[in-house]
Amino acid sequence: MKRLDNVYLCVTILKKVIQNGRKMSKVFRFGVSLPKDLIDKFDKLIKEKNYTSRSKALGDLIRQELIKKEWQEGKEIAGAITLIYNHHKRELLSKITDIQHNFQKVIIFTQHIHLDHDNCLEIIAIRGNPKEAQKLVDRLRSVKGVKHATLSMSSTGKGID
Ligand code: NI
Repeated sequence: MKRLDNVYLCVTILKKVIQNGRKMSKVFRFGVSLPKDLIDKFDKLIKEKNYTSRSKALGDLIRQELIKKEWQEGKEIAGAITLIYNHHKRELLSKITDIQHNFQKVIIFTQHIHLDHDNCLEIIAIRGNPKEAQKLVDRLRSVKGVKHATLSMSSTGKGID
């Protein structure tokens, strides 16, 4: 009976390993030739950013370029807009709400936080067409009373494995 239990355990572990292997893309090693100074600067940079390996740091740099391309080529993207504004400004809130109603296709979530008596922070999660997302942040930024608007350009994560 004990032997059967062990066999069963082994099969279960093997199944898990196979399943995980299917989910992950294959890993390849390759050599990179770069000037010594550049590698030293790279190592210093990634140490400051808390990376423990060159592979992860290099992978992230490549992903950053791929995400930039997704935005340029109009692929489906994800990201976030943050707004800082003074809610006492006349008609500001209704203007911001009107704009968001016109961009429902790209907005998936909005969170409003009252920072203090005057200032509000709004986080708008976005997903969809990058041109729409850019248009949305431009419209919001141009509203009188909006002090700061940023667009965090990220990815749905599908094309950057
Ligand atoms: Ni508020």
